[in-house]
Amino acid sequence: MEIVLTRNLKEGDILAADLMDAYDTILLKKGIELSKGHILAIKSAGIYYVIVKSKNKVSSDSIKKLNAIKETMINVIPGFFDAIFGEDSSKIEEELYIVDDMVKYIVETGEINTSIFDLKEYDDYTYVHCVNTSIMATFLGIQLNLKPEELSSLALGAILHDIGKMKLSINILNKKEKLTIDEFNEIKNHTLNGELLLRNAGIKDKIVLDIVLQHHERIDGNGYPYGISGDEISIFAKIVSICDVFTALSANRSYRDRFNPNDAYEFILTKYNIMFDSYMVNTFKETFAIYPRGCKIRLSNGIEGSIISQNKGFPDRPIIKVYYDGGLKRAVKNYDLNLLDYINLTIVETLK
Ligand SMILES: [Fe+2]
Repeated sequence: MEIVLTRNLKEGDILAADLMDAYDTILLKKGIELSKGHILAIKSAGIYYVIVKSKNKVSSDSIKKLNAIKETMINVIPGFFDAIFGEDSSKIEEELYIVDDMVKYIVETGEINTSIFDLKEYDDYTYVHCVNTSIMATFLGIQLNLKPEELSSLALGAILHDIGKMKLSINILNKKEKLTIDEFNEIKNHTLNGELLLRNAGIKDKIVLDIVLQHHERIDGNGYPYGISGDEISIFAKIVSICDVFTALSANRSYRDRFNPNDAYEFILTKYNIMFDSYMVNTFKETFAIYPRGCKIRLSNGIEGSIISQNKGFPDRPIIKVYYDGGLKRAVKNYDLNLLDYINLTIVETLK
């Protein structure tokens, strides 16, 4: 199922749910194939969006399948990492299929998973972080029109980006107090150590090696290990860098509580031209929604509702189904509110 704005309906779209008017009377039954006449009638009834069957089997089915792939990857990665540590290249090749499966799947469904909330449903378990970063990076890579083989390397590099950290002591990784300079230097070395580890294991893919080495370099030159800047940094490392920061901020860490996904999103936007390439930040904005479908929010005037769809290019101004009025202090009959039409209103909070 997917929600389609009435103005985007096409002849032949099939209704996935009964279409009701404002008084809950059924206008059209679920399963009907829409004709031109139906679409005109829907428009003149003032209905803003319609739920139709997805043609390419996306939405809930596809999210379920993506979660299953994620699950498999989380189980496979420890063995994959072991093969790298054991420098056993035959085993590395054997395990690689899962990364390709994931990329193929994401490309075939063609749907950008706008629900970044889905990416934070587990703890800060290292492998989960790798998989989430890899999934996000693949979506960004598709948006950037990368070639299929580049996408595979990108996804693999994203899985492996922090492999150098596996050699760090757990005490440093989970330390709550401020790190000493020596400890911080040790952490910084995970980029150099990771790249060396991969080379020793026979991985020669430049995209993968660049990602592991450069994912903490920053566009303004204030990153590590080399402090390179701008276009000296590989585009693949730039992609992983932005996804790494986002997924890390969205996860629970030992030394602080998790950021709200929208705070993590805001953080990324404020690092425009400082940590991240402006082009990359814009692509991130175009690719991922701040407030995904189903997310409950409160507006600056006290109204509460849940997100029903997005306005492309305006990630902070989605379309909301209102169910509570904070001014009246009571539930109200559901109605749709397009934040693009109410520029004076802003989303102030996400609700549980
Ligand atoms: Fe890292």
